Amino acid sequence: MTDKLGRNDPCWCGSGKKYKLCHQAFDDKIQAIARMGHVVPHRELIKNPEQIAKIKESCKINIAVLDHLEAHIHEGMSTAEIDKIVYDMTTDMGGVPAPLNYKGYPYSVCTSVNEQVCHGFPSKDVILKPGDILNVDCSTILDGYFSDSSRMFCIGEISPEKKKLVQVAKECVELGLKEVKPWGFLGDMGQAVHDHAFANGYTVVREIGGHGVGLEFHEEPWVGYNTRRGEEMLMVPGMIFTIEPMVNMGKVDIYIDDKNRWEVYTEDGLPSAQWEIMVLVTEEGSEVLCW
Ligand code: MF3
Ligand code: CO
Repeated sequence: MTDKLGRNDPCWCGSGKKYKLCHQAFDDKIQAIARMGHVVPHRELIKNPEQIAKIKESCKINIAVLDHLEAHIHEGMSTAEIDKIVYDMTTDMGGVPAPLNYKGYPYSVCTSVNEQVCHGFPSKDVILKPGDILNVDCSTILDGYFSDSSRMFCIGEISPEKKKLVQVAKECVELGLKEVKPWGFLGDMGQAVHDHAFANGYTVVREIGGHGVGLEFHEEPWVGYNTRRGEEMLMVPGMIFTIEPMVNMGKVDIYIDDKNRWEVYTEDGLPSAQWEIMVLVTEEGSEVLCW
């Protein structure tokens, strides 16, 4: 926010309005908060209405794919079948699965079962069985705009312990979402997520977090949950980011498969659960763009 625009220059947001009648007061407010020592978003993180409309179109595909999976995931199915469904449905709707070839990731979706924390590889050898909990993490590119969300799926009867983990992980996201509002801080959200997990005896993975999203798959800011109220980046209208805490039933420690360098597991072998939503900061509060 350092570029000096004249009061009568066209606003940087592309509205065509004069700066003084558009984002000047907004920028001044952000700069005042920055001078108090807070991290503030730069302009590239603030989406304009046209960009938001395009991003929402991408989100529609992501939601439709996850809704379809809710109706079709079943015991006895392999996670490779889920990968095929995601690829086929995303491309049929005119999109591209964002994970495919992203930094060398070899599949269209991440399917993480039980003690897998995230980035699980779909496989014909992973057959879903009763008692499994599964995260399916979908991301779509449509006309260059990105969406990203994930849900948990429970196969058959699951143990009460796993049921609670899945439920609490969802509540963590809901409680975090309540903290998303303009002129608050990402740490407000992070602490709400962490406190709820902790109160239930769980831990929240530290190394992997959410992220800005929309014009790229992963933008600033990095969104952690082991953070404090009043800290981390200022939230302002037009920012879009994910809330996607990975909640472990046991210890916080994780490891990455050293052969494929992608798949992440809990160190203690206990289950992990994750729900991911993509949220827009609005003038009034927030809007969930996909889930
Ligand atoms: N969808 C994941 C996220 O929530 C990113 C996965 S990266 C991939 O950020 F390459 F594995 F797809
Ligand atoms: Co994400």
